[in-house]
Amino acid sequence: MEVHSHEHRHFMPKRPHGLLGLGEAKYKEMYQESINDPAAFWGRIGKTYDWFKPFDDNKVAHSDFHTPDIRWFEGGQTNISYNCLDRHVAAGLGDRPAATFEGDEGEVFPFTYSELLARVSQTANVLRDAGVSKGDRVTLCMPMIPQLMISMLACARIGAVHSVVFAGFSADAVADRIVDAGSSIVITATEGVRGGKTVPIKSIVDNAIIVAEQRGVNVTRVFVTSRNGQAGVEAREGEEGWVSGRDVNMDALAAAASPECEPVAMDAEDPLFLLYTSGSTGKPKGVLHTTAGYMVYAGETFKYIFDHPGPSGAAECSDVHFCTADVGWITGHSYLTYGPLLNGAHSVAFEGVPTYPHPGRFWEIIQKHKVTTFYTAPTALRSLMVHGDEPVLKHDLSSLRVLGTVGEPINPEAWTWYHSVVGKKQLPIVDTWWQTETGGVMITPLPGVTTLMPGSATKPFFGVKPVVLHQDGEVAEANEAGHLTIGQAWPGMMRTIFGDHERFRETYFSQFPGHYTTGDGGRIDEEGNVWIMGRMDDVINVSGHRLGTAEVESALGEHHDVVESAVVGAPHAIKGEGIYCFVTLRAGATPSDELRAALKQTVRKSIGPIASPDAIHFTQELPKTRSGKIMRRILRKIAAGDEEEMGDTSTLADSSVVGRLMKSRQAFA
Ligand code: WTA
Repeated sequence: MEVHSHEHRHFMPKRPHGLLGLGEAKYKEMYQESINDPAAFWGRIGKTYDWFKPFDDNKVAHSDFHTPDIRWFEGGQTNISYNCLDRHVAAGLGDRPAATFEGDEGEVFPFTYSELLARVSQTANVLRDAGVSKGDRVTLCMPMIPQLMISMLACARIGAVHSVVFAGFSADAVADRIVDAGSSIVITATEGVRGGKTVPIKSIVDNAIIVAEQRGVNVTRVFVTSRNGQAGVEAREGEEGWVSGRDVNMDALAAAASPECEPVAMDAEDPLFLLYTSGSTGKPKGVLHTTAGYMVYAGETFKYIFDHPGPSGAAECSDVHFCTADVGWITGHSYLTYGPLLNGAHSVAFEGVPTYPHPGRFWEIIQKHKVTTFYTAPTALRSLMVHGDEPVLKHDLSSLRVLGTVGEPINPEAWTWYHSVVGKKQLPIVDTWWQTETGGVMITPLPGVTTLMPGSATKPFFGVKPVVLHQDGEVAEANEAGHLTIGQAWPGMMRTIFGDHERFRETYFSQFPGHYTTGDGGRIDEEGNVWIMGRMDDVINVSGHRLGTAEVESALGEHHDVVESAVVGAPHAIKGEGIYCFVTLRAGATPSDELRAALKQTVRKSIGPIASPDAIHFTQELPKTRSGKIMRRILRKIAAGDEEEMGDTSTLADSSVVGRLMKSRQAFA
């Protein structure tokens, strides 16, 4: 899998030393300090943010990976919305662009820092007037419209904990997250529009609320916003589905509210947000991030990785950052919302899909908004490569200076295409490795600093200590593959799984005591470059979205014809991994294409379209050990059509099943 291509190592970057002018020697020096003396390193950086009450210099970092108990910047009080907005307005940056939303049809909604502050304050006042207060969990289920970013910042302003749920999830999946968070307040929008198609978000939320109620969590208030008039749709009382007494028109209330709202002083470790993500068991986990550590880490990673001068240099900086992620994922939290705004940068958000109305849409947006730093997922690049170079070449991309990827490994073909066709062989590609749990990027090249290696996320960010361990806990030698762990705390790391601290300990800190276990495999070469080798647990990565195979299995089990199923990921040309399902039917049920379609529908209803199976393989037998355990390693090989390296099958109760399954293997549609 290694592509250690020397050809790419000596290309001429457009801005050889980066804007920050960091250089390799300085990076090394800073990195060493960040590892040897994290408190001094982060304490100094922490002071560049605004605090209502300074943190205690002796309590910058506290970490215990056994309990686990992680705290940063204790004693300090701050507010992230203040640091994203008020601070810049006070410094005279009020008229600078903060965020620009591009709608599905190309409509543009720009906000300066002053405007965004006013809108956030109005929304915060509406929430506060409705009784939402510090610590309350507010579920946000919205399309990529300005109100989504505004609502997050409004929650943060009054100390409410936002839990953004991707608007592509099904009602059942939204209900799971409302129930787990015990969230009685929801903010939503009438509808979303993507690729010319309307998604009825409000009605998905309505159904989710009914399910949540059956499970004991009552949603008492639903704030409904329109798409900012983008489709001329207004949230109206009396409309179908409108529940009077529960639903309120957020747009009308916000317009009438005061544009000034005092931010709440948050303790450094007060919860900032929850974000649900998949693990190797069926139940999604609510990853909890807290205020100060997340803020400092999101801000600094953005600054260094996208080579931005930060708030003090923002006035002279003409950078425009375009992150294509949906706010519903961690990337949209850290590098579309918080990271850029903390730096006084200009963030561009896009409501639609990369191929609508034409496969040059991303490049058109880059040309239109003069984007300088562009951050996307390998799956998007693969889906665009299919359309050839022309849609890229037709657009003027000369404003670009840094390209980034996130979410999954980038294959050599996609890397080379990105580098040569999009970047004209002049731009650094930052292949950023991180997780919902880590809050911000952990392993990445820095523009102008790090020698690029296609296929490697290269070097650790400040404060990150990657350690590869063998199964027995021994530290791996250079180039030996093993479990990728992190050896010490960093400010942006999650603090707990909401409502289940024991699961937090068990999932991340029990396998290798004293280390945070990432769940990914990896190796570190002699030069210290980290090579990520994919998940080592039952999590799959479909189009850059994390899914637990157990979640899909539990969804399949909801169909009355299914007795048992085993779901694995298999290589997929565009999605990275596709979802391959082995399904055993009850006696009397007949395998058919209709049943396949029905099972896909069951999964879509339970989780959402992102979890739609790519192949369903009916089989009355699965490779099991004598003790009845399904051997997933073998199923993965079968799904991939990899007959060569089946490995040891001697522990199987009946090894002849392998050959039969291989013969009846299903190709991805
Ligand atoms: C995978 C997304 C290889 C990895 C920010 C990780 C990557 C999971 C990369 C987290 C990368 C993310 N190279 N693999 N650059 N970035 N991954 O929580 O398996 O949605 O554990 O966070 O995505 O996915 P999550």
